[in-house]
Amino acid sequence: MKVLILATPEAAVAKAASLTAETLRAKPRAVLGLATGGTMLPLYARLRALHAAGLSFAGVTSFNLDEYVGLGPDHPASYHVYMRSALFEHIDIDPARCHLPRGDAADPQAEAQAYEARIAAAGGIDLQLLGIGRNGHIGFNEPTSSLGSPTRVKTLTESTRDANRPYFTDADTVPRFAITMGVATILAARHCLLLATGAEKAEAVAAMIEGPLAALCPASALQLHPRATIVLDAAAASALQLQDYYHHVHPEGEDRDPV
Ligand code: F6R
Repeated sequence: MKVLILATPEAAVAKAASLTAETLRAKPRAVLGLATGGTMLPLYARLRALHAAGLSFAGVTSFNLDEYVGLGPDHPASYHVYMRSALFEHIDIDPARCHLPRGDAADPQAEAQAYEARIAAAGGIDLQLLGIGRNGHIGFNEPTSSLGSPTRVKTLTESTRDANRPYFTDADTVPRFAITMGVATILAARHCLLLATGAEKAEAVAAMIEGPLAALCPASALQLHPRATIVLDAAAASALQLQDYYHHVHPEGEDRDPV
């Protein structure tokens, strides 16, 4: 794992955006795995700014991690709407190549399997962007998810439903289920880039990086990944035991190889 610690959330977001841009410059037809949630919003704002400055997404194919079961692509709290308004409508990506699971599919399990097949047919994911839940989830792989899981329907924990309640109006109940890429689906990406900011993520981040490999913290599965880059601000890094070492290897979050 490459652990890059930046002083501020702004610097962490800028680092994650520049690593994403680097991937696109090296491979304009890259397949990007995308995440949603509050952490990603400033990252997408930064990618929009990079696009305005000339970065093209015209050749990119994207696959989002997850979608709520029961929400159609025009539901205001759906990740379809989130992605259109946070990113897709502002860049030159081809909407036909932007994929999210259909939350309103008649058979969500079949949709999950078909989604996994679509990722494989696209040649797999070059760069998977990830956030982390306070309970250690990645995608919606809640604690005790199989570390070998494919894309499937997961039951959301009450803590995840609570964390996402602000995105829903009072009239809506937060869905109980989501279609999510599995842990194995995520591990199959050629590069995983996880961004975490804020003190409320510190415990989950420490469990992911320094805790045991355990289904109780699905993000710890990234310890198995040959190319996982974890970009943190100081607050999200604050519970790590080996902070000095990470700063020593990557001063100011510099992304360089040791020799
Ligand atoms: C969303 C997703 C989730 C979020 C995580 C953190 O597509 O996959 O794993 O990344 O819940 O969410 P925020 O950033 O809102 O704290």
